[in-house]
Parts: sequence; structure tokens; C-alpha cells
Amino acid sequence: MKIRRADQRDSAALLKLYRCVADVEGGISRNTNEINESFIDEIVTKACNGGFIYVAENPFHNDILIAEIHTYPTGIQSLQHTLGHLQIVVHPDFQGTGIGRRIFSTLLQDITSNHKKIARVELIVRESNTRAITFYKTLGFREEGLFERRILNANGDLESDIPMAWFNPNFIQ
Ligand SMILES: CC(C)(COP(=O)(O)OP(=O)(O)OC[C@H]1O[C@@H](n2cnc3c(N)ncnc32)[C@H](O)[C@@H]1OP(=O)(O)O)[C@@H](O)C(=O)NCCC(=O)NCCS
Repeated sequence: MKIRRADQRDSAALLKLYRCVADVEGGISRNTNEINESFIDEIVTKACNGGFIYVAENPFHNDILIAEIHTYPTGIQSLQHTLGHLQIVVHPDFQGTGIGRRIFSTLLQDITSNHKKIARVELIVRESNTRAITFYKTLGFREEGLFERRILNANGDLESDIPMAWFNPNFIQ
């Protein structure tokens, strides 16, 4: 399986990947009907201009993507050392096979080795996604609090979100 940086040429494959992941409730916060060309275009544009975006290709069909991770800065000068808007998705057929760990580790290794001006990486995960929370902790993320009743679930219940952060050990001010 090949992990590489992505660009605009990956947009169509990313749209398919995000729709498959959004079809399963309880993972990403967007519903399938919110996953469209402009949503993908915004991710790729922002991640390719000052941020990071990696994809994993299907080992048998390199035009099909089975995982993606992106993060980018907010654009606010006082937060220039911080990456936010982080999202990771793995195709449901490939979840639990180590791809999420590989693609996330690739991102954090890149930042650790090559981006010493990045101090922190932030993400937000819904409280019930305990599998993802455990995973992020093993990568070095820590919980930073609770956004109470932030998410409206399909059944009408309100669910809390957990902000988490990772700190670059090689950060230089
Ligand atoms: C969360 C997600 C990115 C993890 O990627 P993945 O490829 O499935 O995870 P991996 O196989 O690399 O496993 C990483 C860790 O997750 C946990 N994990 C994986 N499968 C698990 C399972 N079935 N049950 C419990 N924990 C599990 C383990 O902690 C595992 O650690 P290990 O490497 O020591 O075994 C992926 O499942 C996904 O895209 N889910 C749907 C979308 C989503 O929830 N995105 C995150 C929103 S914040």
C-alpha cells in the first residue's frame, strides 16, 4: 500500500472515499448529503496551501483511495504554530487493518522531522467514538476538555465532542 501526498487530481477519488465513510454513522461529523465537490475542493485547496494532506492508495487499484488525513492552519497569525481542522478517514472495508495508524504516523513523522515551527496539532472527536479516542492517545494526543452537547446525532440526541492535541517534540520557537 502506497501512502503519498495528495493534490487536486485526487478530488474525485476523495469524494468517493468520504461518501463511503460518511455512510456509516458515528464516525465523521458530516452526513453523506454534505459530502460534495465543494467540500472536497475546500479540503484539498487549504491542505495544499500551508497544510498537509496524505492519501493511501488501494494496493490493487491505485486510482482508488482507501484512506486520507489532512490538517491545516486557521490562517490567524497568532495561531500560525497550530494545525487544526484535522480529519482522518479509512474506507470501512479496510478499517482495523493498521492503515489509520500508518497514515497518521506518516503525518506526525513529517511534522516532527521537517516542520519545527509547528508546535501543536488539534483534532475533535465525538465522545462515543471510543475506538478513535484510544487510537489518538496511543499516537500521543491528549484530551483537553469537553464541548458539551455539540453534535446532533441522527436519532435526535445531542452528543459531546472531545478536543485533543498533540505537541511536536522538536518545536523551535
Ligand atoms: C478511526 C479510524 C481513522 C482508525 O483507522 P483504522 O485504520 O481503522 O485503525 P488501525 O487499524 O490503524 O488501528 C489503530 C488503533 O485503533 C484501535 N482499533 C482498531 N480497530 C479497533 C477495533 N475494532 N476495536 C477497538 N479499537 C480498534 C486500536 O487502538 C488500534 O491500535 P493498534 O494499532 O495498537 O491495534 C478509522 O476506523 C475510521 O476512518 N473510522 C471512521 C471515521 C472516523 O471515525 N474518523 C475519525 C473521526 S474523529
